[in-house]
Amino acid sequence: MKAELPAVTFPGGRQVPALGLGTWHMGEGDASMAEEANSLRTGIDLGMTLIDTAEMYADGGAETVVGEAIRGQRDAVYLVSKVLPYNASRSGTIAACEASLKRLGTDHIDLYLLHWRGSHPLAETVDAFETLKAQGKIGAWGVSNFDQDDMVELLDVAEPARPLANQVLYNLARRGIEYDLLRWSQVQGVPIMAYSPLDEGRLVGHPVLNEIGRIHKASSAQIALAFLLTRPGVIAIPKSGSPDRVRENVRAAEIRLTSEDLRLLDEAFPPPTRKRPLEMI
Ligand SMILES: NC(=O)c1ccc[n+]([C@@H]2O[C@H](COP(=O)([O-])OP(=O)(O)OC[C@H]3O[C@@H](n4cnc5c(N)ncnc54)[C@H](OP(=O)(O)O)[C@@H]3O)[C@@H](O)[C@H]2O)c1
Repeated sequence: MKAELPAVTFPGGRQVPALGLGTWHMGEGDASMAEEANSLRTGIDLGMTLIDTAEMYADGGAETVVGEAIRGQRDAVYLVSKVLPYNASRSGTIAACEASLKRLGTDHIDLYLLHWRGSHPLAETVDAFETLKAQGKIGAWGVSNFDQDDMVELLDVAEPARPLANQVLYNLARRGIEYDLLRWSQVQGVPIMAYSPLDEGRLVGHPVLNEIGRIHKASSAQIALAFLLTRPGVIAIPKSGSPDRVRENVRAAEIRLTSEDLRLLDEAFPPPTRKRPLEMI
């Protein structure tokens, strides 16, 4: 049965689930590729229909796994991929997108992100994104690892076009964006995609998360994800290559954290009290 997942609405009205599927480290070894595709299909069946990938992951291998997972059900999925900064020139962005489309086995990517800021001028990358959009090869574009000052600069450069989302590191152990970028993004209507929502697995087994989990009959991973789901305009994209853990992760949406739970989380993982540069993995 499909879980009732909370949704986030992108500018323009498209709704996506607030819990999606990450793919970093997928496609790195032949043996696990079938299991990885199986995990993604499990997530899609359970309503985690947003999949995040990138040309960088396993040098295209993760996109190949995603292509396998979505074969025959492309329209059920909201597909996000990313161009590497080194490729993000006017012509390089278009070539990178076309290569990603081939690996993904589709004719369009729903949301195409600049993976992080590099040396190519933003205006060139935006120009290429707009060309890809006009050609129907992408539905929308956005960025990743952009701090608030980068976003302000981007909005200025891109106008009247706008980024659809900003994907950044955000989890209980990395709450820096709560000082400024999160609120700014909510006011601007630019959803945040929270990457490494389990801090690459490091939050799993944390004693405070275990303790709160005991009250909710939930795992530490589920509590870490439930925390992100309390934030409006935030989409968390946990990665798991195991269908069982994907089933576990989706059930985070059933947890209602209380104000006492949130107080305990603030105590164990204090929110920022001053500006810190955006962290990246
Ligand atoms: N834009 C960027 O620069 C950027 C950077 C990093 C990540 N990302 C995106 O964000 C996605 C998620 O981040 P991430 O992969 O770095 O880290 P993550 O989702 O925070 O953690 C993934 C790790 O946690 C494990 N895990 C998942 N669910 C679990 C559960 N229920 N119990 C125990 N362990 C669990 C996974 O192992 P198993 O697979 O063995 O289950 C994996 O080792 C990436 O896959 C990628 O799509 C983007």
